[in-house]
Amino acid sequence: MMVAGKSRRGFFLTLEGPDGSGKSTAAQRLAARLADEGYDTVLTREPGGTALGEEVRQILLHAPTLDPALTTDALLFNAARAQLVAQVIVPALDRGAIVVCDRFADSTLAYQGYGSGQPLAGLRTLASFATGGLEPDLTVLLDLPVEEGLRRKGGEVNRFEIDADVAFHERVREGFLTLAAESPGRFLVVDATRPADEIDGAVSDELRRRLPVGGSISRLSEPKAHSVRMDR
Ligand code: TYD
Repeated sequence: MMVAGKSRRGFFLTLEGPDGSGKSTAAQRLAARLADEGYDTVLTREPGGTALGEEVRQILLHAPTLDPALTTDALLFNAARAQLVAQVIVPALDRGAIVVCDRFADSTLAYQGYGSGQPLAGLRTLASFATGGLEPDLTVLLDLPVEEGLRRKGGEVNRFEIDADVAFHERVREGFLTLAAESPGRFLVVDATRPADEIDGAVSDELRRRLPVGGSISRLSEPKAHSVRMDR
């Protein structure tokens, strides 16, 4: 894995998709399976994944009275991201771990960019600054019709879902699909209506195809169940 000309040993996998696509469950199952197989595995999520990031998450998702401007949203997501990259992701990649991250920079482009209409160029610059140019080795997009996603979420909605109408979610979905089409080498698009075990199989097959051969990925000396770290 390369970032800003620096070679890192680990593997960085992100999962993206609309609300209700099942990516959090898919992320947990993948990370648990990798850990069982003895890989040094780190499972994390956005926004959050660090103490600072979880505070920012509270502001972003559960404090509607603060009424952040659209640009403030973009900055806050990237503030949480910068902390997660510095504190969790880069150290893990440097020691050769597989990092599984539930949402990453593509979410800001899809939600704040395609969904809310913030300029994509500015959002890309912001993300590049926040991440130091770090990009995932593989991004799994769990694609799902909007109605199906909203139905699956039921009554459990956060600020981004309360305020948003179906048209917003359609733009987010199309945004993700556009991002995937622009970077076919990085994305794997999976139909999220397929049974969970088929999705798990497709993701882990693709990961195995891409894992570098030659031993740069760390394996723990004593593989054990539940050794996956969830740095929250
Ligand atoms: P969460 O409850 O974690 O939803 P999910 O399980 O669907 O990931 O809430 C994350 C919300 O934040 C989700 O609605 C998408 C939104 N979001 C953005 O708008 N921009 C971003 O950059 C990120 C990371 C998330």
